Amino acid sequence: MKDTQVIVIANQKGGVGKTKTADVVARDLAIKKNKVLLIDFDPQMTLTKQFGVDSTSIRNTPQDSSIIFTDNKTPEPKRVAINQSEDCFLDMLFASFSLMEYAQSGMSARELKLKAYLKKIKKQEIYDYIVIDTAGSLGVLFNNAILSADTIILPIATVSAATNATESFFNELIVIEEQFDHKIKDVILFGNMYNKIATHDKEQLNIIENDIPRYVQIKKDSGYFQQLNLHVVKAVPIRTVIKDATGSAIYLRDYIKSYSNSKSNQKILKTYNQIYKILTNKLF
Ligand SMILES: Nc1ncnc2c1ncn2[C@@H]1O[C@H](COP(=O)(O)OP(=O)(O)OP(=O)(O)O)[C@@H](O)[C@H]1O
Ligand SMILES: [Mg+2]
Repeated sequence: MKDTQVIVIANQKGGVGKTKTADVVARDLAIKKNKVLLIDFDPQMTLTKQFGVDSTSIRNTPQDSSIIFTDNKTPEPKRVAINQSEDCFLDMLFASFSLMEYAQSGMSARELKLKAYLKKIKKQEIYDYIVIDTAGSLGVLFNNAILSADTIILPIATVSAATNATESFFNELIVIEEQFDHKIKDVILFGNMYNKIATHDKEQLNIIENDIPRYVQIKKDSGYFQQLNLHVVKAVPIRTVIKDATGSAIYLRDYIKSYSNSKSNQKILKTYNQIYKILTNKLF
């Protein structure tokens, strides 16, 4: 039986690199011939727009991720070519304004809607990986995503506002574990937008790589997170090439090659290589 792994990119803090991470991770997996479903689960629709899709045209269609909240409709992911020779694909569910409406409406048991949909998909044994980009806020969408995740990827910007928000991220995971009798498994965290020559960034990275794992361990010692396995991977530097690749909606690895295939730019990919290895147990 095919074992579909659900990977959720989450941080309730906005602008930390969630969408970029979802994009690179999903494409990395697809380029390496895995069957991948990428879901935009953020009502801001950033990923959808980055794939050139007009969110108004997909609203309430089977390609709209919000239809997981309606019982009588089945989502139908759209196949999207992600390389120029068009022999490499991702299946996608996009986001529309409806996502916010469903999230705010008062349906009962709505926290488990995504998990229920993914359970059906898993039974079909189509996908190796399902990658989900989430909103930079807490609430029903966040809970749906966390409750569906086999692995959570947590990018944290090396600014104090982001590191300060990380304890509350883990506290929220505790609330979800308790409320839904759910066990969080793997969490991969890393510092993002790291400027190695700035003292402030160094301090923040120290918090991310040392204080946060210590905080999680304290929680474990108090009986929480009994199945949690925390992986700390290398920080992603702040680089124009990353921002430019996002702006032109190009796969970061291809963009780096066309931009400047220098050793220093290749180094940017170390974190994504580490993440790929953790997810697949293989080297990129
Ligand atoms: N390491 C980096 N260096 C430079 N720019 C980056 C880096 N990581 C992400 N960015 C850029 O920062 C911006 C915010 O990133 P992204 O959209 O991935 O964040 P997000 O967490 O998804 O935000 P939101 O909470 O709004 O959904 C984007 O323009 C992205 O290209
Ligand atoms: Mg985003």
